[in-house]
Amino acid sequence: MTKLKNDTLIRALLREPVPYTPTWLMRQAGRYLPEYNQTRARAGNFLALCKNPDLATEVTLQPLARYPLDAAIVFSDILTIPDAMGLGLYFAEGEGPKFERPLREEWAIRDLTAPDPADHLRYVLDTVSQARRALAGSVPLIGFSGSPFTLACYMIEGGGSSDFASVKKMLYQRPDLLHHILNVNASAVTAYLNAQIEAGAQVVMVFDTWGGMLSHAAFHEFSLAYTARIVAGLKREHDGVRVPTIVFTKGGGGWLEDIAAIGCDAVGLDWTIDIGAARARVGTRVALQGNLDPAILLSSPEAIQREAGAILASYGRGNGHVFNLGHGISQHTPPENVAALLETVRGASASYH
Ligand code: CP3
Repeated sequence: MTKLKNDTLIRALLREPVPYTPTWLMRQAGRYLPEYNQTRARAGNFLALCKNPDLATEVTLQPLARYPLDAAIVFSDILTIPDAMGLGLYFAEGEGPKFERPLREEWAIRDLTAPDPADHLRYVLDTVSQARRALAGSVPLIGFSGSPFTLACYMIEGGGSSDFASVKKMLYQRPDLLHHILNVNASAVTAYLNAQIEAGAQVVMVFDTWGGMLSHAAFHEFSLAYTARIVAGLKREHDGVRVPTIVFTKGGGGWLEDIAAIGCDAVGLDWTIDIGAARARVGTRVALQGNLDPAILLSSPEAIQREAGAILASYGRGNGHVFNLGHGISQHTPPENVAALLETVRGASASYH
């Protein structure tokens, strides 16, 4: 086992001392990079790219060839699990993800089973092990999954939505059916993340993109309880090395203490909360990851310096901060603005450590 040359991300997630604040960006490999668009064109489309481990590995490494990032994230999508369950994922050009067979009927919901990751999700595990090998110990590799609730949103709705009305209708009218889906999803996600850890993922992150649209009570019952079950079921060590876990709930600022209490090592923050106030609330229980508004990357290097500097100052001195965006990078981001951000954080953060 090669030792990591740059382990600042792992150390920050475990709240150990680091010389500067490590940084990576959600969706750091994506359409704002011309080389990504070229590789995607070679693959044919986004899903074909995800399913081709050679090309997915190439794309995983692209942002690291350009920028001094402190982590790689395996190139894939959260919707690989429902695809492996047989729902038929496809991406209509410009329309986002869709399922050919969304969960509409009770019999289909009762038939749902957790896929064996070694079988139906082999291509993701192959990408993880290839990317890990290609990184050669330079920076850690992050594996990820959607949360059971966020996956259920797409599975029931059949695609993206502005209000996920059919999900909420099921939640209030047939909570038993939603709980059944969430149970299967939680088993699937636990097995999938553990398989990614076995294949070489050195950090794992759960994306709960839609938990924040729930009421207080519904968030706890239908989202957080299942994320907690996953965290409890994850391997915390591989080859004698700790594998930190990150939980990100978009819109979850009101429930920070509760999320921090489920046993994860770090909590991801969107941009709607002040990171210093968040730190005061969670204390030393978890590290915090975030939380620059991705829209700031559409502006100028001066505005980026100011806003990134404000986040570093708000978090303040000491351990436990991983710099990131509050959500995925926009496809309209000028690549040179990402360089400006990373230069700022690397330079300005040293004085806080
Ligand atoms: O962070 C990374 O670089 C790793 C790759 C990654 C992708 N999707 C690639 C992707 C990750 C971590 C995801 C997670 C994901 N996927 C989430 C959770 C995080 C979030 O953004 O809230 C969700 C909800 C999805 C589902 C999904 N996939 C949507 C809604 C879309 C369409 C939105 C869009 O940006 O077009 C996708 C497609 C997708 N996933 C793209 C990428 C790079 C763009 C597709 C393309 O290249 O055409």
